[in-house]
Amino acid sequence: MKVVLAYSGGLDTSVCIKLLQDRYGYDKIITVTVDVGLDKDDLKKAEEKAYELGVYKHYTIDAKEEFVKKYVFKAIMFNANYEGYPLSTALARPLIAEKVVDIAKREEADALAHGCTGKGNDQFRFENVFRSLYPKAKIVAPIRELNLTRKESIEIAKRYEIPIPVNYNNPYSIDENLWGRSIEGGILEDPSNEPPEEVFKWTKLTNESTEYLEVTFEDGIPVEINGKSYNPVELITTLNKIVGSHGIGRLDIVEDRILGIKSREIYEVPAAFSLLNMHKALEQLVLSRREIKFKEIIDMEWSELVYYGLWYDPLRESLEGFIEKQRKRVKGSVTAKLGKKSFEIVSRESPYSLYRKEVVSYDIKQKNISVEGMLYYHSLQSSLYKSLKNL
Ligand code: ARG
Repeated sequence: MKVVLAYSGGLDTSVCIKLLQDRYGYDKIITVTVDVGLDKDDLKKAEEKAYELGVYKHYTIDAKEEFVKKYVFKAIMFNANYEGYPLSTALARPLIAEKVVDIAKREEADALAHGCTGKGNDQFRFENVFRSLYPKAKIVAPIRELNLTRKESIEIAKRYEIPIPVNYNNPYSIDENLWGRSIEGGILEDPSNEPPEEVFKWTKLTNESTEYLEVTFEDGIPVEINGKSYNPVELITTLNKIVGSHGIGRLDIVEDRILGIKSREIYEVPAAFSLLNMHKALEQLVLSRREIKFKEIIDMEWSELVYYGLWYDPLRESLEGFIEKQRKRVKGSVTAKLGKKSFEIVSRESPYSLYRKEVVSYDIKQKNISVEGMLYYHSLQSSLYKSLKNL
């Protein structure tokens, strides 16, 4: 029997290889690592480790460009945010799952496997795609099905001599992609503990100077940094470096998981933090008051669908259809001033701006229109209400 496993090379998925062999009895295990912004060395190590653990075949798939173009750029357009979390892991899971299914179809596999626990969100995200795209496959989730604690996973790893970066002193669970890095577990599980500096990697303060950062958007998508155009992947990695070096983009959140379990999460999201703020600033300039108000609902719905792992719910496509025309006007440049752990938007401009000096300025006479009539009717119901007796 053949099983295809979504494999990161981390503790849980490495343990899964062994469990799929020894506990579940699969004779052919195929591992798939989808590169959505992982370290080159880590990818090589993941592959070597998979073969050492006895897999039949391993695939590494570079999906960085697809991730940015079809997922990250949408997250920007929808100001993606779930309880303050800009959806990094949540955004990448459907793409990873889709690539795993592609391989499973090519290999005519009987089953699909993932290394998620029963407490988290990722099981929902993987399985939404697995069930939608390859319904005939059996889904195997060893860590959840065997109800393994992190400690038990570490023990199994030791028993099988699986090389792992985590040990009892460094028990963080880390997930990384181009849009963000998340750290949970260990002492962070107590939300009253301040995160120790060692958990951070992308937002270490290495640049204490002040600099300006200008990002140019077209069709709601970032295309240039400081006047220079970048391809989608480079644009995000460059921003992570620039913004992260100022120590900007750290989040410490207690969020509500799908199951209703609260979770303390540390995120490093320098590119996401800056781009989301800048995109919003540009929308404020070009969208009408009614559009802005209505779009908040659209944004929230889209973000929640993604967080909840409902990538294939048809509502997502409808919401994406909704902004298709509007986003053509989200064009222009936004400048932020980066300082020591500080990020301030200081300038924005657009050819589609609804902000007009001749209308706005207190130094320019108002056109020959009367506001008096409007003032009268604006207060009409309030004044009628206040005139009522015996209330
Ligand atoms: N809470 C986030 C989410 O549900 C991040 C989970 C990342 N996992 C991790 N092992 N750090 O998307």
